[in-house]
Amino acid sequence: MNDARPAADALPRRCDFPPDFVWGVATSAFQIEGAATEDGKGPSVWDCFCRVPGAISDGSTGDVACDHVHRWAEDLDLARDLGVGAHRFSVSWPRVQAAGRGPWNAPGLDFYDRLVDGLLARGISPYLTLNHWDLPDALQAAGGWAARETVDRFVDYALEIDRRLGDRIAAITTHNEPWVIASLGHETGRFAPGLRCRATAMQVAHHLLLSHGLALQALRAAGCRAQLGIVLNLAPVQPATASEADRAAARLEDGRLLRWYLDPLFGRGYPADVLAHLGADTPQVRADDLRTIATRMDFLGINHYARNVASADGPWDRRRGGRPLTAMGWEVYPEGLTELLLRVQRDDAPPPILVTENGAAFDDEPVGGRVHDAARTRFIAQHIAAVRDAMRQGVHVAGYMVWSLLDNFEWTSGYAKRFGIVYVDDPTQRRTLKDSALWYRDFLQGRPSALPAPAPAGVEA
Ligand code: FCB
Repeated sequence: MNDARPAADALPRRCDFPPDFVWGVATSAFQIEGAATEDGKGPSVWDCFCRVPGAISDGSTGDVACDHVHRWAEDLDLARDLGVGAHRFSVSWPRVQAAGRGPWNAPGLDFYDRLVDGLLARGISPYLTLNHWDLPDALQAAGGWAARETVDRFVDYALEIDRRLGDRIAAITTHNEPWVIASLGHETGRFAPGLRCRATAMQVAHHLLLSHGLALQALRAAGCRAQLGIVLNLAPVQPATASEADRAAARLEDGRLLRWYLDPLFGRGYPADVLAHLGADTPQVRADDLRTIATRMDFLGINHYARNVASADGPWDRRRGGRPLTAMGWEVYPEGLTELLLRVQRDDAPPPILVTENGAAFDDEPVGGRVHDAARTRFIAQHIAAVRDAMRQGVHVAGYMVWSLLDNFEWTSGYAKRFGIVYVDDPTQRRTLKDSALWYRDFLQGRPSALPAPAPAGVEA
């Protein structure tokens, strides 16, 4: 069980990390902003997907979310009070360009102008993501990411954001988790835009990577001063048993989740085993595309939540791992992050790594104005320790960001799953710092308090 870690090492300390290590919180536009139709914002694929009966488990939408468009100053004050040095947020493309082509929407651009200035005024570095999944629906109607034309639209959008904000941004991420957009959005159809076609999904994945490389080249040519990179959702994939069949299943999942993205980004092209597996569903790749995708990055962003266990017999029952489970049913398996970071360092020799998301959903209950989220506090502390362990073994990690600052719209789970270190009361929009936020604040001030008691194994923590 994961509590076998020696007590003295269980508690990370800020002084274990270099002074310039970036500590942050992460958010995304669709999940917090609300103001879905205000001031010229156009609909995104997620606005439309929320209207599909049954798509969102609690039937909710992002129309109001955390009302961040109106409460951004209060939210940035919270981030400042925690003492973070970085805030990861995304720009809603349809807020700044309703149809994904044509005129720029001045009120939308002004909102991000104020947000960026507001961050800097509070001593927080802005880490901007261009695409956290909310593609303008008008572009989806024209083929979305499956259409090569969308690649050019994305590059235009990247350049406009740089023109308006680039002088004040620490880092620009092109895409958040292209695997999710491609596979969940276009293969299983569980996420927007809800399509179910593997060939389309693989073409989408290729166009996302291509647009990433082209955007980096265009931004650098325009003199962009921000650090540039991409954010991948990565997990170590382990076989359920040592059987040949389970090891083959793990190898394939590793290929589709990790190597399909890492290999071309680091100049090795698409992995041969995955191409062979895809057969006729292999994407169309033009001459030079792979060279473009391998354009040098300044950082690699990694979002990490849990390990994956692959079984040839279908989905693996996570209760079998004997670990605490989060409210998402995901295992608490912190050493998986160390393993992942070591593997990426070994195989890809990447630029500095930023852990751009890490956190957990639990069923929080406010009690007398407090939220005692012991399980989340342990989760965050253990994963920070896992980052430290990887760094001690030579991995260059430059930052860590908690997902998420606020309880928010958790995609198909709606508002039922809470990932925030700040509790948001849906009816009143009142924000309350959870114990995990207080722990993170103390940690950042160099005085971590003791970790709360462990959760029992194999049950929701
Ligand atoms: C990641 C997403 C983020 C959030 C977390 C829980 O896949 O990037 O928006 O939903 O999962």
